[in-house]
Amino acid sequence: MYSFTRINDDVTYIGGSDRRLALFENMYPLTNGISYNSYIIMDEKTAIVDTVDKSVDRVFFENVEHILDGKKLDYIIINHMEPDHAATLGDMIIRYPEVQIVGNIKTLAMIKQYFEFEVDSRFVTVCEGDSLELGKHNLTFYMAPMVHWPEVMVTYDSKDKMLYSADAFGIFGALSGNVFADEMDFENTCLDEARRYYTNIVGKYGQQVQMLLKKVSGLEIEMICPLHGPVWRENLSWYIDKYNLWSTYTPETNTALIVYASIYGGTENAVHILAAKLAEQGIHDIVMYDVSKTHVSYIISEAFRCSHIVFASPTYNMGIFTNMETVLLDLVAHNLQKRKVAFIENGSWAPVSGKLMKEVVDKMKNTEIIGDVITVKSTVKSEQIQAFDKLASVIADSIKQ
Ligand code: FEO
Repeated sequence: MYSFTRINDDVTYIGGSDRRLALFENMYPLTNGISYNSYIIMDEKTAIVDTVDKSVDRVFFENVEHILDGKKLDYIIINHMEPDHAATLGDMIIRYPEVQIVGNIKTLAMIKQYFEFEVDSRFVTVCEGDSLELGKHNLTFYMAPMVHWPEVMVTYDSKDKMLYSADAFGIFGALSGNVFADEMDFENTCLDEARRYYTNIVGKYGQQVQMLLKKVSGLEIEMICPLHGPVWRENLSWYIDKYNLWSTYTPETNTALIVYASIYGGTENAVHILAAKLAEQGIHDIVMYDVSKTHVSYIISEAFRCSHIVFASPTYNMGIFTNMETVLLDLVAHNLQKRKVAFIENGSWAPVSGKLMKEVVDKMKNTEIIGDVITVKSTVKSEQIQAFDKLASVIADSIKQ
């Protein structure tokens, strides 16, 4: 049965939520599912802005049929071709064979990669700044390459001052009836998952996100309609400010993130000693994660949030402990930069993880290594406590600057 939410007189939310999915993109753990958003605009001409993932296709098809109520579907606008949004495009062509698909030249190529239906005759190619008139609603398209794929574009409706923003401004997490962000305690219940979504999915492409933000900054925007998570109609600048921080790799919180690996507890003990000394030095909101326990996507998100990072790892097969190496390489892959970093290494006979971790961190732009590397041989000894005091002082002084 259909289940939809009216956004305003002409626009209706017709997407759905999947709480069963364990791993988004078969990689990122979901604790409360994800929503796949789609919107239908009813005017003299009718248009759907993006379709949905296969998992919610049934409710989507029923929504489309119910809202159209016998009226012709004129356009499907494809802002993003990734299958979590475009997987149902082929089924829509079977149901609505006269519909025209609106996208850019890169969209067209991708449709041909994913589908075998005849596309050229029903494709409307749009370029930067082109418009499509539906009647009262006039839609303008702006290219947003690599936010998150090369074909991504966003759609602006000048009548309602609405920006259909594709993946931008999306979050992990299903919708639970409330479709608008102002109907939720977003900062306390959704912000962490918004950050984890942004940093892991789009985080690498900060420069491209900045280009998009600058491009749309001249538009009067009263509502942002993303492809995942809630619609924004209040306090837009608060969320845009978060995007400005994340996409410029600017820390949100001046504190220490401690990321560690430990096999028999020696390195874990070392980071607890350091954390306690940081707390003694007045540092608040210290966070600590075991890379063998916490999925890398949460650590990526926290690394984008925090200003200072301590990496502590045993030496393993003359390298970095595997899960720690994964975290470090993933941080480099996501283009993290502008951080202050310190190291603790451990090794029962030939500790080299500090040197090797530094070699990876050296690839992060504008990142400074602070303090001396502390070398633990199996377990911390009392004569090393001074070295922990010293490292804690260096980190604390840097945080307080
Ligand atoms: Fe939600 Fe890049 O797809």
